[in-house]
Amino acid sequence: MTLPALRCRGVEKRFGDFTALAGVDLEVAPGEIVALLGPNGAGKTTLIGCITGLSRPTAGRIEVFGYDVASDFRTARRLVGLVPQEINFDPFFTPREALRIKSGLMGVPPDPAHCDALLRTFALWDKRDAYTRNLSGGMKRRLLVAKALVHRPKLLFLDEPTAGVDVELRRELWDEVRRLRDAGTTIVLTTHYLEEAEALADRIAVLRRGELIVAESAEAMLARGEGRSLEEIFVELVQEPEPVS
Ligand SMILES: Nc1ncnc2c1ncn2[C@@H]1O[C@H](COP(=O)(O)OP(=O)(O)O)[C@@H](O)[C@H]1O
Ligand SMILES: [Mg+2]
Repeated sequence: MTLPALRCRGVEKRFGDFTALAGVDLEVAPGEIVALLGPNGAGKTTLIGCITGLSRPTAGRIEVFGYDVASDFRTARRLVGLVPQEINFDPFFTPREALRIKSGLMGVPPDPAHCDALLRTFALWDKRDAYTRNLSGGMKRRLLVAKALVHRPKLLFLDEPTAGVDVELRRELWDEVRRLRDAGTTIVLTTHYLEEAEALADRIAVLRRGELIVAESAEAMLARGEGRSLEEIFVELVQEPEPVS
């Protein structure tokens, strides 16, 4: 039996009285693409933070390829890559420096050939020595993805990679996601676009108020609603239940 790329069991995250994750169970198979959907505030970024070691769950267990993210922190961290929701690099570093520094942070030996290949793949080669603050929005996004790939993660998280990007860049990112999957990377991406989830993902996972309410293929989701569109089914799924009065 192969180990899942990701296994979350009863993952809970509280901030004071507020429960951001209410016991999430989720398994992702190696090579799968899973789209994580849910309204703003549903807990998508919090869940990714718990998996990638940015934040500590208040209960539950998370394993990445069998490594516990708490007790095997270093090994687990090297297996995951994260493209964060917010642009987070120093504006006074160049793309080339940003990749080199990231390699150091991830504890992998410098690999200039790999970094150069990433710069070319993400069409940043011409800007490799420019201050990142001078890059266009699309270039900044692509640098975020390149940074996340510097240590060759086997499980990649993309947190709203296409929020606010133009159609062309969105298509480019989709192509890149598919290439990464073809190269063996397991991918979890969050999105607000059902169309994107349907186009890319093997399964769609839906979070609502910190609870994972479904994780299934688009076909299985469609089969729930007699003739209704995926969007109609999704909207109904994430709607709050009627209060009992
Ligand atoms: N550090 C924090 N302190 C308090 N509340 C937080 C913190 N981080 C996130 N939250 C809350 O947790 C909920 C889930 O947030 P988040 O995971 O960012 O949602 P999503 O990514 O699905 O939009 C939100 O209500 C948010 O306000
Ligand atoms: Mg978020």
